[in-house]
Amino acid sequence: MTDTGATYTCVLTKLKMTDCLGDGAGDMTPMDLYEKLTSQGDTVRTLKTEKAAKADIDAAVQLLLKLKVDYKQVTGQDYKTGCPPSECAVSQDNGPAADGEDMVDPWNVSTTNAKGVDYDKLIVRFGSSKIDQELVDRIERVSGQKAHRFLRRGIFFSHRDMHQVLDTYEKNKSFYLYTGRGPSSDALHMGHLIPFIFTKWLQDTFDIPLVIQLTDDEKYLWKDLSLEDCHRYTMENAKDIIACGFDINKTFIFSDLDYMGASPDFYRNVVKVQKHVTFNQVKGIFGFGDSDCIGKIAFPAIQAAPSFSSSFPQIFKGRKDVQCLIPCAIDQDPYFRMTRDVAPRIGYPKPALLHSTFFPALQGAQTKMSASDANSSIFLTDTPKQIKNKVNKHAFSGGKDTVEEHRKYGGNPDVDVSFMYLTFFLEDDEQLEKIRQDYASGALLTGELKKRLIETLQPMITSHQERRKQVTEETVKQFMTPRPLNYSF
Ligand code: TRP
Repeated sequence: MTDTGATYTCVLTKLKMTDCLGDGAGDMTPMDLYEKLTSQGDTVRTLKTEKAAKADIDAAVQLLLKLKVDYKQVTGQDYKTGCPPSECAVSQDNGPAADGEDMVDPWNVSTTNAKGVDYDKLIVRFGSSKIDQELVDRIERVSGQKAHRFLRRGIFFSHRDMHQVLDTYEKNKSFYLYTGRGPSSDALHMGHLIPFIFTKWLQDTFDIPLVIQLTDDEKYLWKDLSLEDCHRYTMENAKDIIACGFDINKTFIFSDLDYMGASPDFYRNVVKVQKHVTFNQVKGIFGFGDSDCIGKIAFPAIQAAPSFSSSFPQIFKGRKDVQCLIPCAIDQDPYFRMTRDVAPRIGYPKPALLHSTFFPALQGAQTKMSASDANSSIFLTDTPKQIKNKVNKHAFSGGKDTVEEHRKYGGNPDVDVSFMYLTFFLEDDEQLEKIRQDYASGALLTGELKKRLIETLQPMITSHQERRKQVTEETVKQFMTPRPLNYSF
């Protein structure tokens, strides 16, 4: 996952106010409508930026919504910023957030709601599907395993084409997993582990190959870091990833800076993607502007390429039709909307996706954690004492101010960060439910809740540290060597 607080702001570009628009789609062409919609979006943003009167903003938003409906009627597609109708034929997704919605893109996550981002709304906005009970049940049936707690508790909450992956698997055909990380520092925090913990479970459950991309190139392009720093972070982060327990015979980890130059097939796929995505499209999806360096504009193709099995001939023996499943945090979805849009046009299957919610900062669920703020997160290098202090001192509490009030009115587990963390890490469903009830009724005090969390985290982090110590340079090298895995394709 990426860190928050990056410099990138993609939706707040300030543009001229436009004239009031006529109503109705009438006999407007898709292009006319597209242009009106774009300028109306700008109008809404300008009004908001300038803190105009609420009535004016509401009226402008109403008109925007109406134009969106008209556009859909006329074109059969959803309107997408920066992506004119003729170029959007295959895509059904929306671009960056608008209209004061939660902000979620690969560089920013923010919301004003203490419970966190409204994930149901994100599903609608991104055009993905909810992971409902029926899908969780089906995963259990098909795999013969109890669903991981991240599935049982809605932490992985959204997907694209997971049913299709299960259909494939039921026909005894294989698929593979792809996930990744942008190595922007040495210090991983617990939030960074979420996709890896879940990916490990998927690998064990379905017994399939896994590729892990470390985008040191991405971090070099976006952050003020040297290439050497980024590559060093890659090698250090790889140790933490390996410590999650991946099977060396089934897992290939790679640095973009190394693998791009080493694998002709990988680079060919990057170029194929680059040829099939226009600047307009990446502008619409990622909000790139004229002063962004060209490396950023070209980068999404590099994150797309591992979604295609032909990028790894040593594993898939040149096969280009092996279905890919990508577990990731929802902020990475823009990359894969683009990938899915391109895939059929270059003759590859679309990757399927499983999306997770964000791991909240200790201070609350308004944002995800930042590796640059030591107090916003529990790091994988923290000592038991540091964990205890951080939780006690910084974990946002949904409890009442005094013990008397707390006993009388109860606490609010929905905004309580200690409780949220327990939903990520406490395995036992019944214990978790009892804690929730006791906290809400006031029987359990904040200090006691925090103690439960501390007792859950300390052994988890300590054993991670022990496993990491076992990971030698030699082991890292083995994981990162392009080689066949234990599967015949
Ligand atoms: N861009 C991601 C990050 O900054 C890293 C990444 C690359 C990734 N490929 C991925 C994450 C696939 C999830 C799935 O963290």
